[in-house]
Amino acid sequence: MPAQKNIVILISGRGSNMEALLRANLPCRIAAVISNKADAQGLETARAHGIDTAVVSHRDYADREAFDAALAQEIDRYQPDFIILAGFMRILTDGFVHRYTGRMINIHPSLLPAYTGVDTHARALQDGVKIHGCSVHFVTPALDGGPIIIQAAVPVLHDDTPQTLSARVLHEEHRIFPQAVRWLCRDQARLDSDGRVSVDRMEQLGSTLISPGLD
Ligand code: GAR
Repeated sequence: MPAQKNIVILISGRGSNMEALLRANLPCRIAAVISNKADAQGLETARAHGIDTAVVSHRDYADREAFDAALAQEIDRYQPDFIILAGFMRILTDGFVHRYTGRMINIHPSLLPAYTGVDTHARALQDGVKIHGCSVHFVTPALDGGPIIIQAAVPVLHDDTPQTLSARVLHEEHRIFPQAVRWLCRDQARLDSDGRVSVDRMEQLGSTLISPGLD
């Protein structure tokens, strides 16, 4: 049996994606949850699950380099195989990203490469797209631009608000994120040297999502 992988999860707030990971019975050890905000709701949830928590507040550091150095030091205490960004809302320096190349993934609430950055649901509604969704990707220096591991698409309904659309997408985030981490921890997904993602034993979808549906 290969040794069980260690992961560290980074959060900034609510932590519902982190909680989905804690509940997913993943084939890895969740060594710690680290937040850049002391009042992140997700820290309470992690503690309730008996997971070690730590806070590295970006406010305590003069610039991004200093914050990222402190964050890396805290992460490395746990010697994780993978770093999982679960609603971690800080832009990371290139140096930090390179330190964890191929070992750090992020969940983003859009069908990348559309709608990088913030306010993805409001912008999708504004544009009138009929299909929206979420993506899990390896982190590279390009903001929300790294190679994609898995995506889920949802229909945009005519009476959607950013809140209703966000809830529909979040439901799918909670399904695809544990799947991506499971693949990583089982060595079934990896970032290849050519910058592409390969996933073993992937089921291919047999149907099309058309939104609104055909008559
Ligand atoms: C999630 O929707 C996640 O995709 C998004 O923040 C939310 C965090 O919710 N992440 C980003 O926008 C990263 N750019 P959670 O704390 O309940 O998981």
